[in-house]
Amino acid sequence: MSETIRVLIPEEKVDERIRALGQQISEDYAGKQIHLICVLKGGVFFMCELAKRITVPVSMDFMCVGSYGDGTASSGVVRIAKDLDESIENKEVLIVEDIIDSGNTLYYLIDVLKKRNPASMRLCTLLDKPDRRVKDVKVDYCGFEIPDEFVVGYGLDYAQKYRNLPYIGVVEGLEQEGV
Ligand code: IMP
Ligand code: MG
Repeated sequence: MSETIRVLIPEEKVDERIRALGQQISEDYAGKQIHLICVLKGGVFFMCELAKRITVPVSMDFMCVGSYGDGTASSGVVRIAKDLDESIENKEVLIVEDIIDSGNTLYYLIDVLKKRNPASMRLCTLLDKPDRRVKDVKVDYCGFEIPDEFVVGYGLDYAQKYRNLPYIGVVEGLEQEGV
């Protein structure tokens, strides 16, 4: 069976929600500057759209942390493939992620970044799959809670495909990989 994509959250809904998140974040950080940290590669579409909706000053940095191969289940092993370019000391850090699934990746990342003494650190995710949580991660801003289905689009991939879809979709007809 070949893969097909079923639309879960249409483009207009995603855009509308990001606009609202941007407004809320701008209010919460009034008078401050936000240092956005994008978790590559999946967080990049969300971060760009979110940053455009934030009205307080922002700076940005990028980090690549991976726990996935080409499959659909977390290996639980987290590695830093690319670290930040700049120090986060005394900065108001907002981590921007595509999805929190088991929580393994962010649990690890938050632990690493807290040791670098930011003024504050919060987490903003486009999607959250709370049913799948293994590690306790506090989500400060969430776009959508979704059921336990493998989703793509808006930065999210399946074997590096579908990141460029402008909506969130569910991949159907996936080969069973014993995961
Ligand atoms: P966690 O460590 O299990 O929370 O997984 C975090 C990472 O796994 C996310 O940043 C995604 O890159 C990837 N991931 C988790 N669920 C999905 C999904 O449904 N579609 C695509 N990628 C996913
Ligand atoms: Mg990710």
